[in-house]
Amino acid sequence: MSGSKSATRSSSRPPESGPSPRGRYGRLSALSLALGAVFAVLFYLWGRELFPRAAGGWGRTFPFVGAVALTLAVALFLSEWFGFAGREVRKVRLAARDFLFLCSLALLLFFAAKAVIDLLAEIPALGRSVPTRVYVYLIPLPAFAMVVRVLINSETSILFTVAASVLSAAAVSGSWPALLFLLLSGTAGAARARWVPDRYRMLMAGVQTAPVCALAAAALEFSFHGGGGLLWAGIFGAVNGLLSGPIALAVMPVAESAFGYASDIRLIEMSGTGHPLLSRMMMETPGTFHHSVVVGTLAEAGALAIGANPVLCRVAALYHDIGKLGKAQYFSENQAGAANVHDALSPGLSRAVILSHVKEGVRMAGEFRLGDRITEIIAQHHGTSLLYYFLEKARPMIQDRKASEEMFRYPGPKPKTREAAIIMLADAAEAAVRSLGRPSPQEVDETVTGIVNRVYLDGQLNECDLTLRDLHAVGRAISQVLAAVAHGRVDYPDAGKGAA
Ligand SMILES: [Fe+2]
Ligand SMILES: [Fe+2]
Repeated sequence: MSGSKSATRSSSRPPESGPSPRGRYGRLSALSLALGAVFAVLFYLWGRELFPRAAGGWGRTFPFVGAVALTLAVALFLSEWFGFAGREVRKVRLAARDFLFLCSLALLLFFAAKAVIDLLAEIPALGRSVPTRVYVYLIPLPAFAMVVRVLINSETSILFTVAASVLSAAAVSGSWPALLFLLLSGTAGAARARWVPDRYRMLMAGVQTAPVCALAAAALEFSFHGGGGLLWAGIFGAVNGLLSGPIALAVMPVAESAFGYASDIRLIEMSGTGHPLLSRMMMETPGTFHHSVVVGTLAEAGALAIGANPVLCRVAALYHDIGKLGKAQYFSENQAGAANVHDALSPGLSRAVILSHVKEGVRMAGEFRLGDRITEIIAQHHGTSLLYYFLEKARPMIQDRKASEEMFRYPGPKPKTREAAIIMLADAAEAAVRSLGRPSPQEVDETVTGIVNRVYLDGQLNECDLTLRDLHAVGRAISQVLAAVAHGRVDYPDAGKGAA
């Protein structure tokens, strides 16, 4: 089931997070009401000709009764539409931040729709040869739908397309061809932004959207108005599609910095060692940096095996242990034959230092604005797993093993996404195989299988979408890559002997 899905953002969103459904719905209603009021003011200021005037006697007594009614209607539409989807569609769990982002895009589109209609009609050369009605085919909804799919997920982009189509069609006198074109072009744009790891793919998504928009615009123009503006409708539709890639590329960085999203394009930019956190890791904790690179390779292979997001896995793995910066010597991968500092510490103190790397990592991710997707993975990469080594070391001092076991567990949360679960497995497998020294491929396979079973039986994968088939495929992919890495370590002849 989930394994057949391609590497999209939709797989990287937690199925449920944030406040209770009732609290979320209340906040959604309040935000909808605020947005409805903004729409009503916009209509009043800039679309007076579209403003409802049929309020009868009430309208004469209270001039703003039409605005209030319109506010309520828009708010009701938004809260019902997104509230229903949020309750019933598993991958649409919109936090207030997401809702504000979608509303900002819808408002921007409203302005764009009005600008397209009002400003282009002012150009005399165009006005003479082009019927005003065909300007609606330039409303840039495909670009915005692409941005929503890339930054949130495909389910939300469909919802956004429908809501934004209705609101933007209202901005252009609510004509049927406009509404149908917006619905169709937005869906076409979102559908083609399936896998966008770089700018070229984004531009190509726009190029592929162009013929669909051109065909839709020409067909709608012909069916509603005959052949008069057919050519211009087709041209405007094609231009809309072609511009959707560049517009999406321009909007995305602003949305990422304002709302804390991280697209795959941004993730790939963050994977270079020029990033201050990665260069600090290379210099201060080279063992952890090497461990993170290997975990990234393993997690990428695991993600490819089940159709999860390989870019997110690789880049989040690079950052998953940034909380170890400043405490390098407490983690085995940085000790490199030196004395183990934990020998001189009590198990309780060791526990506190080790557990703190998750919390510290989350804090640093916030400070360096790594984005929610990486921050969530840092928080979840150990789940609520147990520090076996230190629990065993503390055993002689323990009265109540059950209570102590809770103390020696990471605070969680458990992985909520397939990507976080893959990184948890890759992390544990890398550490276990490293401790074997020079294992044979069979030993690697047995160790990885043992880790996968232990993580599963410990209940760490209870809150993510990984199926048993996925789990098996991820384990096999990790084991193959680890076996190849271990096998590739060739002994070189001793330099002294060689010279002799
Ligand atoms: Fe860690
Ligand atoms: Fe790690």
